[in-house]
Amino acid sequence: MEKIVLPEINNLHLIDVYIENGGYTAAKKALVQKKDDIIDQVKKSGLRGRGGAAFLTGLKWSFMPKSDDKPKYLCVNGDESEPGSFKDRQIFEFNPHQLIEGTLITCYAIGARTAYIYIRGEYHKWINLMQKALDDAYEKGFVGAKMKEKFSTDFSCEIYIHKGAGAYICGEESSLMNSIEGKRGYPRVKPPFPAQNGLWGNPTTINNVETIANIPAIINKGWEWYSRIGEPKHPGTILFGVSGHVNKPGVYELPSGTLLTDIIYNYAGGIPGNKKILCVIPGGSSMPPLRGDQLEGVKMDAESLKAAGSSIGTGGIMVMDEDTDLLRVLARISKFYFHESCGQCTPCREGTGWMYKILQRLISGQGSTADLDLLISVANNIEGNTVCALGEAAAWPVKFTVERFRDYFETRVNSQTSLPTANKVHSMRNTAFPLSDIIR
Ligand SMILES: Cc1cc2nc3c(=O)[nH]c(=O)nc-3n(C[C@H](O)[C@H](O)[C@H](O)COP(=O)(O)O)c2cc1C
Ligand code: SF4
Repeated sequence: MEKIVLPEINNLHLIDVYIENGGYTAAKKALVQKKDDIIDQVKKSGLRGRGGAAFLTGLKWSFMPKSDDKPKYLCVNGDESEPGSFKDRQIFEFNPHQLIEGTLITCYAIGARTAYIYIRGEYHKWINLMQKALDDAYEKGFVGAKMKEKFSTDFSCEIYIHKGAGAYICGEESSLMNSIEGKRGYPRVKPPFPAQNGLWGNPTTINNVETIANIPAIINKGWEWYSRIGEPKHPGTILFGVSGHVNKPGVYELPSGTLLTDIIYNYAGGIPGNKKILCVIPGGSSMPPLRGDQLEGVKMDAESLKAAGSSIGTGGIMVMDEDTDLLRVLARISKFYFHESCGQCTPCREGTGWMYKILQRLISGQGSTADLDLLISVANNIEGNTVCALGEAAAWPVKFTVERFRDYFETRVNSQTSLPTANKVHSMRNTAFPLSDIIR
């Protein structure tokens, strides 16, 4: 694995500092090449999307039609609402121009003249920072009509920042487009896919913020350089957001394929009080959890995590120590997906609420081990039966946590079913006007 040493640059978010350090030279280089050559370089680099599914970026771009009979669009997805995921905001804050430059190159390659950077509504600070960076880029002529002069080219494009309004579902690519169109954020049935029928019925590409921020380096340093970083099947650096029971939570940019234990113990400083790890969710709350005793040798890239029974997701690593109440954690996660379900399809709308109710029942001590099987059954009936992947996002944590921590949940459930209804009835009898007395 090639070691990369990144120079420390202060104030890279300022346009002048970005330019002094080679900023916007990748765009200059790209805009004189053939569009297909750019797509080819991105394909060869092996770059995979950082928005959750790790889909090949160059391949996605190649789905865009070549004809110019309709306007084309790029949507840069910065909705970042998955619990445990907080890496895109680092780019908005510390390297916004790399994102703008990547957006320009992507627009050029796919033939789009308009890009929307969709930012999570609660990210007020980061929306303002990104808007400031974009205004500066416009002023210097790197974006908009002045581009033609700046880059001595025929190409120009407009970039707009679009604020979300607080719905997790608007991070799903088709509901993101509905949201930009001013409609309710309902996911669309696919096919047709966005490259054929996207924004206002026109060809559209949707990519995550981190994905797009990788583009300038691929163009400037070459696809060969990029493809040698980290794991060959999922190359590049990844922004890992580490949260939960670690001494140094934060976002760490590391080569793909870095050991999960290395990230937790060396970079994030280990577990407070040197406690054992009970559970780690490696890619944001919707991904299958790993047991603390399953972490040895697990590498952080799409293929390795698949082999380990989970998924890279958004690279949000959530660490839970041995004292964590996993039942309450799971109930909290379930509550989130229940709340965020758009309600369009029955298995998700009803199933998410049902799972949350069962988990609440277990927490209150009214449940039984049969509820554990019921949880898995409800999750199985959601998975694969919904319009969008929020169904899986809700089902996977429940199904895999219950399956993988069955011993934990059984012990928890059996030790709790001691103080249920009988005791409550008994205490009512001791009140001044017990129900049974009134009836008599
Ligand atoms: C419920 C739901 C929420 C999503 N939220 C985000 C998000 O906040 N950011 C993101 O980039 N992708 C999100 N995605 C994935 C997008 O639909 C899409 O796959 C992604 O933006 C593509 O970018 P990439 O190819 O660069 O990974 C979400 C998907 C679902 C089902
Ligand atoms: S899976 Fe859930 S969030 Fe997605 S469309 Fe269906 S109801 Fe809406």
